[in-house]
Amino acid sequence: MSALRNSLAVTDIAHHLHPRTNWRQHEASGPVIVQRGEGAEIEDASGRRYIEGMAGLWCASLGFNHPRLAQAGARQLEKLGFYHTFAHHTPELTIDLAARIGELAPEGLHRVCFNTSGSEATETMVKFAWAYHAARGEPGRRKVISRDRGFHGSTIVAASMCGLPDMHREYGLPLPGFIHVRCPDPYRERAAGESEAAFAQRLANELEETILQEGPETVAAFIAEPIMGGGGVVIPPADYFPLVQAVLDRYGILMLDDEVICGFGRTGNWFGCETMGMRPDMMALAKSISSSYFPISATLISDRIYEVLADHHIGAVFGHGFTNSGHPVGAAIALETLDVYRDMDLLPLVREKGERLGAGLRARLNGHPFVGDIRGRGLIYAVEMAADPAARRGFGAAFNAGGRVNEAAKARGLVLRSMMGDILGICPPYVITDRQIDDLVDRLALAIDDVTPVLAAEAKP
Ligand SMILES: Cc1ncc(COP(=O)(O)O)c(C=O)c1O
Repeated sequence: MSALRNSLAVTDIAHHLHPRTNWRQHEASGPVIVQRGEGAEIEDASGRRYIEGMAGLWCASLGFNHPRLAQAGARQLEKLGFYHTFAHHTPELTIDLAARIGELAPEGLHRVCFNTSGSEATETMVKFAWAYHAARGEPGRRKVISRDRGFHGSTIVAASMCGLPDMHREYGLPLPGFIHVRCPDPYRERAAGESEAAFAQRLANELEETILQEGPETVAAFIAEPIMGGGGVVIPPADYFPLVQAVLDRYGILMLDDEVICGFGRTGNWFGCETMGMRPDMMALAKSISSSYFPISATLISDRIYEVLADHHIGAVFGHGFTNSGHPVGAAIALETLDVYRDMDLLPLVREKGERLGAGLRARLNGHPFVGDIRGRGLIYAVEMAADPAARRGFGAAFNAGGRVNEAAKARGLVLRSMMGDILGICPPYVITDRQIDDLVDRLALAIDDVTPVLAAEAKP
């Protein structure tokens, strides 16, 4: 058995190129082979179980082996394993799914274009924005503004919109015309003594200055996650999006809402834009749309944009789409996912579990000498480590305090995610039990205790 495992690891090292992995390090460490899941827990090849506090990659909202999703996929595979949505065709269930998403989405966003990944969903928003402006006689509107530390995907345009250096470095990105403004992080970016409201106003002013410098007639869109995920669970100040929205409206710039993480309940409302006061012209959805049991994503556009684009394409076709856009098996699994959310009365459940998680984290970690911030909404949280919490001084990326806590947590049977050096992300499946939430908090607090001597040595002024 262990020879088999060893040989699997050797084969993995020899043939499998892992995303977001240091390949040389992988040659030494080998893979973590995950062999099964049960609810919010996973089991590795040696039989060790972990609470999966990140729902995989912020995505497996219904845990790792939900029977209803398995059955829905199997039923559809037996009936119609593939059909496409090009040139007026469609599987039946894809229509139902479009209608269901349109019903859930905020007012005015009723038209759904299916893709297969979050990157495709965000990148499709950019194509729609370009086409929309061109159709209205403004083809010079090409630039897209995003934020430092934002994450929007790995394809070339999506990566250009990311505000994370490791998405750009090796590739000569961002592409020209992809511009970044300050991250709305009240913990790291707010000046000493500055109120959250004043910070939000400063960010809106900076955005307006950037637009004026670039030339408003060259700017197509602004893209934002309501709550930033991969950049460290950044929750902007309450006034931020309304102020940003007013700036965008002044210059005819579209608001693109990346709901790839926040969509489908994560922040305690169906969509993060409702939690954070955004008024999107388009929306990108993925991950929890199917609990990631099938790669399916969606781009929603407003009725106003639809009307412009539909007129524009009369006599020609809409030149976009993927072989697997609107795949019937993905549609079946996504529809079942939405049914499960309905049956579990998702929103109150997320809010209650989120409150338990937040209360637990605060009870155990508030006042800890090296915990700088505990923040969250719904069931997405972050704990930020700090060398000097009172001064909001972090340990810095090189020391990687978050990574150290993360390793200690893993040794205690808990999977989290470390980001930006000091930050630990927590984004558990919605099916996590109360007992597992308490265990998660407990294991994280113990993991922090495990590394506290090392943190203390580093934190000495
Ligand atoms: C906010 C956000 N947008 C887009 C993406 C890209 O999604 P995918 O990896 O499915 O292409 C991600 C992935 O984590 C994400 O977090």
